Amino acid sequence: MFDRTEEPSVQCPPRHVALIMDGNGRWARERELERIDGHSAGEEAIVAAVRAARDSGISWLSLFAFSTENWRRPQDEVDFLMLFNQRVIRNNASDWNEMGVRMRYLGKADPRIPDFVHEDIAFAEHLTRHNTAMTLTMAFDHGGRRDVVRAARSLIEHGVPAEQVTEDALAGHMQYPDLPDIDLLVRSSGEHRLSNFMLWQAAYAELVFLDVLWPDFRAEHLQQALDVYQLRQRRFGKVPSAVAVGTRG
Ligand code: IPE
Ligand code: IPE
Ligand code: MG
Repeated sequence: MFDRTEEPSVQCPPRHVALIMDGNGRWARERELERIDGHSAGEEAIVAAVRAARDSGISWLSLFAFSTENWRRPQDEVDFLMLFNQRVIRNNASDWNEMGVRMRYLGKADPRIPDFVHEDIAFAEHLTRHNTAMTLTMAFDHGGRRDVVRAARSLIEHGVPAEQVTEDALAGHMQYPDLPDIDLLVRSSGEHRLSNFMLWQAAYAELVFLDVLWPDFRAEHLQQALDVYQLRQRRFGKVPSAVAVGTRG
């Protein structure tokens, strides 16, 4: 995971794009609707984002669908979000399967997740498991800190001696060890924070914050973020060669 000998060049599309889908509540409030109407309207944005990402040649797309902190919301909204995430699977798993998308759910550890949601998640993961065009990771009941704690616990359970606990070893005990570092992390709705999202994988992500509220997010917004990404110079702690010879910077 931290072997950066194959760093994605800024000339290439990012390999792993992650989206923090935020602003559903504000979108609804602007229209004098209920918050849950904002979540419902977000489905069209999810569909658009998945298609646009696949068409852009992105091989890993991750979406933040429900955080470990979102359990603190009113029970009605939590209940709705459980149903909504099931609905997204029911409405889209077949299309995404045809598009060659492999679906995986990251997190999903809380006993409050209803069985019917687990069943549909298992169905979608099984249906799409051999697809190779793009991996869609739905961060659902996900928390970046909890992911790291679970990996640490797994290392201990496997009896890994302290001197063998390296970054690679810990990464190997994450839920999905093959999930690459995030290249481009986009958050909608104008908020400038990570909200405990994929902290391990976001270590060197390029951050792009867009003002668009999630239900209005479409292919053009992904493209806007990709354009910004193309202009970023990723250094990973090194000195850029052009600056080193004094020609730029
Ligand atoms: C994001 O929209 C959806 C989830 C967090 C599940 P919000 O519901 O957070 O919308 P705002 O931030 O209140 O506008
Ligand atoms: C983060 O958004 C979680 C998801 C997008 C699923 P929140 O709206 O819950 O985050 P905060 O509360 O603004 O940090
Ligand atoms: Mg929010």
